[in-house]
Amino acid sequence: MSDTATAPTAATPAAIPPATCVLISGGSRGLGLSLVHDALANGARVATFARTVTPELEALAAERPDDVFVGSVDITDTKAITTFIKEASAKLGPIDALINNAAIGQDSLHVHTSPERVAQIVTTNLTAPLLLARAFLRHAMAKSGRGRIVMVTSVCAQRGYSGLVTYSATKGGLDSAMRTLAREMHGRFLVNSVAPGFFASEMSSVLGNEQLSTITRRTPSGRLVEPDNITPVVRSLLFDDTNLNGQVITIDGGGSI
Ligand SMILES: NC(=O)c1ccc[n+]([C@@H]2O[C@H](COP(=O)([O-])OP(=O)(O)OC[C@H]3O[C@@H](n4cnc5c(N)ncnc54)[C@H](OP(=O)(O)O)[C@@H]3O)[C@@H](O)[C@H]2O)c1
Repeated sequence: MSDTATAPTAATPAAIPPATCVLISGGSRGLGLSLVHDALANGARVATFARTVTPELEALAAERPDDVFVGSVDITDTKAITTFIKEASAKLGPIDALINNAAIGQDSLHVHTSPERVAQIVTTNLTAPLLLARAFLRHAMAKSGRGRIVMVTSVCAQRGYSGLVTYSATKGGLDSAMRTLAREMHGRFLVNSVAPGFFASEMSSVLGNEQLSTITRRTPSGRLVEPDNITPVVRSLLFDDTNLNGQVITIDGGGSI
């Protein structure tokens, strides 16, 4: 193919460049910490926060002070989020990618979940990630003007799982927002979701061995998902020119098919 055939025009904007500085919510443990390590291993700088900065994250920040910025921030605190983005970008440079990973779980039937708990799950898992995406976009549009967003959602947004009504609603809400954001950000931001099946973490520790072996039995690949299965997919969404946009990529060993 000749150069002219691939040259960007007004109708075909250039590919979104690979991420150079990634904001990851909830990078203190579990999948978020794996995503922090993976982004760093791929040459990006990383800004990450959680309510509690774990010793693992503290050690990483001490080891790579030029590449890692960490903070103790509650994602529901909009002002603190704005301050964090300002401080992180002052230290690391412009942020051009966001992984909306932080969330809280649920393990209660809807009729037994208090209104306060429903509100807390919605605020943490839906309202706050939307506001984080907004704050990130306002920052990134004023800087490089282009970038990438990955929402970490769940198979729960696609299939019914008892005890996860509000949690599922928040993940489905994020998937829907993701698609519309991908349209709104036409040519400037790639926006996608990864939807993992159950994997071992603090969040899923409420599942007993019996539930885990039932999920494994029902999974066509024969094994549960691990964070290491998810990181390569997120890596591709952050760094590759795949032109994937507005998609939910389910990573669950085929459990939801
Ligand atoms: N584990 C699974 O089976 C599973 C399956 C599908 C999807 N997911 C999704 O994968 C993502 C990661 O889950 P995980 O299993 O790795 O969970 P996890 O081990 O419980 O980690 C959650 C992270 O989010 C942070 N976080 C929670 N509430 C926060 C708040 N209010 N403000 C700031 N940070 C907050 C936590 O730190 P602090 O508590 O210190 O704030 C932690 O860093 C989540 O979006 C989850 O919904 C998980």
